[in-house]
Amino acid sequence: RKNLNIGLFGFGCVGLGLYEVLQKTPGLKATISNICVKDKEKKRAIGKENFTFDKNDILNDESINVVVELIDDADAAFEIVSAALKKGKAVVSANKKMIAQHFTELLELQKEYNVPLLYEAACCASMPIIRNLEEYYDNDLLESIEGIVNGSTNYILTKTFSENLSYDEALLQAQEKGFAESNPILDTGGFDAKYKLLILLAHSFGYVAKPKDIFNIGIDNIGELELKYAREKKLKIKLVAQAFKSETGNISAFVIPKFVTPDDRLYNVDDVFNGIITKTSFADTHFFVGRGAGSLPTASAVLSDISALSYDYRYEYKKIYREENVSLTNDAQLKV
Ligand code: HSE
Repeated sequence: RKNLNIGLFGFGCVGLGLYEVLQKTPGLKATISNICVKDKEKKRAIGKENFTFDKNDILNDESINVVVELIDDADAAFEIVSAALKKGKAVVSANKKMIAQHFTELLELQKEYNVPLLYEAACCASMPIIRNLEEYYDNDLLESIEGIVNGSTNYILTKTFSENLSYDEALLQAQEKGFAESNPILDTGGFDAKYKLLILLAHSFGYVAKPKDIFNIGIDNIGELELKYAREKKLKIKLVAQAFKSETGNISAFVIPKFVTPDDRLYNVDDVFNGIITKTSFADTHFFVGRGAGSLPTASAVLSDISALSYDYRYEYKKIYREENVSLTNDAQLKV
């Protein structure tokens, strides 16, 4: 296994989590040698000597062979990630918005500079879904993928439904627990779920969509009427991301709030948990569940990517290279 010398960008909820989990996994030969942050004044859990404010201190440091990008701003993240790849550094990122917005460019950069970019934490935080999609479901084994992929909205829906918390109070809790995006409209409007679905779509059906191609409705228009109806009928409301192949071979992908019945496996996926059901050709269904947000669970997925880099793991994107002609349709939305 390779020794990894890490340059970390960002030291928020997930960055600090990574620092903690790395200290608890001494078997992994990975050291954070420099951390780049934006805010010079902010008080942090570890000493000033660990930080730099200049990204080039990491990007130009030849001893750093892995860049871990855990910042909030998607545009700044893309600059950092593309610069790191161009310098031949392997990259781990948790930035779903950045990855969704630049998927094609990131594929090209990985090919051109022959370096891996891993992003397990960008999709459903702790749940190892990308790795499973990459490695298990080859040869058209997959018919559909459906699930709860945003922890904050699931937390809000759970709290407003079961504990009668107000929407604002539940959102505040999701923010305080470090689940929500710094702009929570990304969560509540279904955008974060859309970005994750775009990534899942690429690794499951080999189709690279643009964010604008995927239709999304969030939870912000769910009112008392819907909650009352759900309670009366013993249903729950879940924000569901879905992608499936139609009979014509086209793919439908969208994010919508749905009523789910008690016999649906997503019914019991509550709180900050995410759940994904894959429907396969020969094995019926698989059901993945795991914590979908939060400092240590997300850091756990970042750690897994770092560990994978130590044995040169990279995504093969087999499906993308095989199915370049698949097209996306949203006809099926009309039937929902
Ligand atoms: N805001 C995201 C969520 C964080 O709530 O799911 C994890 O991607």
